Amino acid sequence: MSFFTNLQMMFSALTKPQQQVTLSKLPPGRVLDIGGGGEGVIAQVGGCQVVAVDKLVSEIGEARDKAPSANWLAADATRLPWSNGSFAQATAFFSCMYMSDEVKAAVFKETYRVLQPGGEFWIWDVLMSARSGVFALRLQATLPDLKNVSTAYGVRAKDQSAASLGSLLQQAGFKTEINAQHKHWFLLKACKTT
Ligand SMILES: C[S@@+](CC[C@H](N)C(=O)[O-])C[C@H]1O[C@@H](n2cnc3c(N)ncnc32)[C@H](O)[C@@H]1O
Repeated sequence: MSFFTNLQMMFSALTKPQQQVTLSKLPPGRVLDIGGGGEGVIAQVGGCQVVAVDKLVSEIGEARDKAPSANWLAADATRLPWSNGSFAQATAFFSCMYMSDEVKAAVFKETYRVLQPGGEFWIWDVLMSARSGVFALRLQATLPDLKNVSTAYGVRAKDQSAASLGSLLQQAGFKTEINAQHKHWFLLKACKTT
């Protein structure tokens, strides 16, 4: 990314208030976290219960120290190396914003395949428009042990909303509901009902 794009991203982040995301404990069972590197927020919440997948080894390296008991795998989530029904739950914490619609569709199909029937896929992500050029958001995540993680996520903007993700999730077989909708971000719960 160019110096100018980085500057635009910083401006985009600073013109929005810091967002607050409060996380609860994870339900029991093995949890697959898609795009889990960087801050490794879900891995910090669930520890050894979490299998975090990220396509970038550098992002895993950054996160591993923050959640050493989690399980880490460098892999592209469009092709997951597990058999059907391997996970009780799945999560994607501000990861979809880094994927094209084509990649999101493939990742959602794979996530559906590796989830057990009745499993839930929780997605935190942003509302953005391609017209804005770049999109960035500062946020503070409060973990169940009350630890605060402050971070920022930024990308070249694309069109994305709860509805657009909901439609891709539906195509993958999920039944989806909006759990929370804020000005800049939302939380979706997608269920594998059969
Ligand atoms: C901003 S990070 C997400 C933040 C992270 N969940 C956290 O807790 O800080 C987005 C991550 O998604 C990963 N990613 C993007 N496309 C992916 C794919 N197809 N498969 C696996 N990881 C992917 C990126 O490498 C990046 O590390």
